[in-house]
Amino acid sequence: MRRPFAASGRLAPPASGTLFEKGLDALAKVDAAVTRFQDVAIVDRGLRAPGIPSPSPNAPSMQVTQNREVRLVSRPKGWPTPANFEIVEGPLREPGEGEVLVRNSHMSLDPYMRGRMNDAKSYVPPFAVGEALSGGAVGCVVTSRAPELPVGSWLLHDLGWREYALGPAKLFQPIDLSLAPPSAFLGVLGMPGLTAFVGLHDIGALKSSDVVFVSSAAGAVGSLAGQLAKLEGSTVIGSAGSDEKVAYLTSELGFDGAFNYKKGGIKQHLRDLAPKGIDLYFDNVGGEQLEAALGALNPFGRIVECGMISQYNEATPGPNNLAFVIGKRLTMRGFIVSDHRARSADFARNIAPLLRSGTIKFVESFVDGLENAPQAFLDLLHGGKYIGKVVVRLAPERSLKA
Ligand SMILES: NC(=O)c1ccc[n+]([C@@H]2O[C@H](COP(=O)([O-])OP(=O)(O)OC[C@H]3O[C@@H](n4cnc5c(N)ncnc54)[C@H](OP(=O)(O)O)[C@@H]3O)[C@@H](O)[C@H]2O)c1
Repeated sequence: MRRPFAASGRLAPPASGTLFEKGLDALAKVDAAVTRFQDVAIVDRGLRAPGIPSPSPNAPSMQVTQNREVRLVSRPKGWPTPANFEIVEGPLREPGEGEVLVRNSHMSLDPYMRGRMNDAKSYVPPFAVGEALSGGAVGCVVTSRAPELPVGSWLLHDLGWREYALGPAKLFQPIDLSLAPPSAFLGVLGMPGLTAFVGLHDIGALKSSDVVFVSSAAGAVGSLAGQLAKLEGSTVIGSAGSDEKVAYLTSELGFDGAFNYKKGGIKQHLRDLAPKGIDLYFDNVGGEQLEAALGALNPFGRIVECGMISQYNEATPGPNNLAFVIGKRLTMRGFIVSDHRARSADFARNIAPLLRSGTIKFVESFVDGLENAPQAFLDLLHGGKYIGKVVVRLAPERSLKA
């Protein structure tokens, strides 16, 4: 599946003197052509897609009476299965005063959603059994009773896992499609992008002299974290679960080295690719890779604890060498991106010009249709199938004209 984008639209001027600018010249400009990776689009330039309608207070509303949503029917024990989900079709009420009805064009699939399937107290409340799941989505207003969000407005919100989102205007945030196509606001310009930015700079205190190791480096967070570290001037090593992903990291994203964590010993790969050790580990997976990184870290090294996907569905070994934190005087710091919303403006100001110039690449894997969302989520958790940000397409953008 391949998505070309038209070159049009305006961008906010780049902030001058940022740490991103320093590294821009060091990274060769990528080819503007759209490259293929299996059936996945690698998008070099995030620009406004053709056929996107403009918001208008006079645009006619769309009559919608039915909605489809994905509900959680039972909580998984260990790995989730399709039986934990059901697709339900039902009537949709009309928007009340101050509300909008949004036809979702894309919804996000994210590893953190697995944690919300458990009945456990966490930083985000669990999904309720018998109710629709939720999560990041973008879409276009088709009926509005909120003057500030007229029909045709494109919005980001948290009412994914359904074809239409209905609610008060305060739940929806306008997006600027002159910056990037709608799906990018779920990935490189959205929560995963901010996670990479905050993780590297605010939590990891990235330095140009660092040797950086990023796990799940071909994923939504990891692919941006690695590219941002390269822009800073750091040496960057990544791991991923297939040879094709590994080749993509070095040939397309400019990583200095990469390895397939399923082949050969992880510790040996790190010794080969970083003979002088690593200074910063951006951890997306935990388990064996965290253990190997603890061994490879230099004194006073840092670990950005972003995620531990290897442990979300089953008990996995490692690390058994946490005591290195003491002897090597390491800093290990976890974070949750939602605590760092105040950094969103800085993030967007820095990333948008890099996207527009093609300096940063982002890759998206698209799955079509709400009915395929549960299986795609399971495939995301198992790994191997998708590269970059996984997005479910719920409606073609061109069909969203009011
Ligand atoms: N702290 C925060 O606020 C925050 C915010 C967003 C995300 N996160 C975390 O950041 C991590 C990355 O998130 P993302 O959205 O970018 O997901 P992602 O990396 O795009 O997707 C998940 C990938 O994890 C890899 N994976 C699955 N099981 C694995 C295992 N046992 N060992 C190693 N790799 C495995 C798979 O890649 P391969 O095919 O390469 O194996 C899979 O494609 C996740 O742990 C997520 O929970 C944290």
